[in-house]
Amino acid sequence: MKVLYAVSEATPFIATGGLADVGGSLPPALRKRRTACRAVLPLYKGIGQDFREKMQFVTDFVVPLAWRRQYCGVFRLNHEGAVYYFLDNEYYFKRDGLYGHYDDAERFAFFSRAVMELIKHIDFKPDIIHCNDWQTAMIPVYNTILYSKLPGYENIKTVFTIHNIQYQGVYDKSLMGEVLDLDEDYFSLLEYGGAVNLMKGGIECADMVSTVSPTYANEILDPWYSHGLDPILRERAYKLRGILNGIDFKAYDPGNDSDIFFPYSAKDKSGKAKNKAALQEHLGLELKADLPLIGITTRLVTHKGLDLVVEAFENILASSQAQFAILGSGDYAFEEFFHAMAEKYPGRVSFTAGFIPHLARKIYAGVDLFLMPSKSEPCGLSQMVSLRYGTLPIVRETGGLKDSVTDSGDGKGNGFTFKSYNFADMTDAVNRALTAFYDKAAWGKLVDRALKDDNSWANSAGEYLEMYRGILS
Ligand code: GLC
Repeated sequence: MKVLYAVSEATPFIATGGLADVGGSLPPALRKRRTACRAVLPLYKGIGQDFREKMQFVTDFVVPLAWRRQYCGVFRLNHEGAVYYFLDNEYYFKRDGLYGHYDDAERFAFFSRAVMELIKHIDFKPDIIHCNDWQTAMIPVYNTILYSKLPGYENIKTVFTIHNIQYQGVYDKSLMGEVLDLDEDYFSLLEYGGAVNLMKGGIECADMVSTVSPTYANEILDPWYSHGLDPILRERAYKLRGILNGIDFKAYDPGNDSDIFFPYSAKDKSGKAKNKAALQEHLGLELKADLPLIGITTRLVTHKGLDLVVEAFENILASSQAQFAILGSGDYAFEEFFHAMAEKYPGRVSFTAGFIPHLARKIYAGVDLFLMPSKSEPCGLSQMVSLRYGTLPIVRETGGLKDSVTDSGDGKGNGFTFKSYNFADMTDAVNRALTAFYDKAAWGKLVDRALKDDNSWANSAGEYLEMYRGILS
């Protein structure tokens, strides 16, 4: 079976969020399971010279996009056993930042069309094209409307994975002929609420639609979570499924992570305490081993549950001796709040504004608890990374958080959870976690359990294979 994995970002090349972790680790995980999987992404300006130097030029061709004829260069690079193709067009991708440009619809329509054209020019004829989020949602649409009857394309099937339903790619109807190169007759495939909705088109045309956790697959059938798309998804529920992401156990390994202060593992976890002390010192927190240290690393946006954190924050500080290590950037109001807290509680609260992966790793390794009270969370990777580093997550029971963390109250779980989205329930979960922290024997067992949790890609990659086989049979 041959799979072409189309994605708009992938670690270690270029990343703005969790999508990149999946883009960089699922194709190699499929390769390890003897599936010929190659990935393709845009050659952005932000992709470093170190990678560019290793890329090989493969070919170039012209991509039609309505009246436009756009150049597309193809480069390739091996990453962890998988081939990654990079599609080059400087007009579209030699810019700062990945998304948020006035012509994003055109940029990613170009990319999607170029992926379809690419198949004519490489020695790799996929059985499945696996697309991800709105940026590649036009691939199933193009496959259905323009390519499926062309020689060489007859048997190609498509999978469309929703990593976050909030971002759908919604544009004016004029996009149809002007950019997408599609006759008005096809408007009904893409139309939603009178506009062009790329994600909706992907859902309609893909042979299978998946999302990144079983719980989220259910949640998005409900208007509270669906950002308007629930009627379409309920209609297409027969081809919807949820597969929980894994994390790259090699890339996130406390026994071998040059970004953390001291290595440790399930066998010898003594290094964890040393990381805590080093982190406290690094962040200017009081050097106290016996006080619980809670970490938060996140985008500072409401759907990550930050409004609950803000509401509960000073109560938690007043009623406990907990310390906080916070890292993130996003909404100005949240940044201001955490700056103010760090100033008001020196030695107890540290806040660093920014997206700083190496500091995030020091936090995962150095804190005792990781707070992630998301309002919605398609999968979430931070809770899995926390577990991998022996840090107990406190999460709301939603999406992938629910599927990867269970409350330890039953003596079996690997964290602390709460159900309803309100600050009292979150505070209660935090308090239970803080109480557990002081019970040294029980806490040691919890940390052991976290360190042994297996959220590697092995299982999830197997589920993707099963889905691909189902489509092809
Ligand atoms: C998006 C989701 C996140 C998920 C990631 C990878 O960023 O918001 O929950 O883990 O995609 O699938």
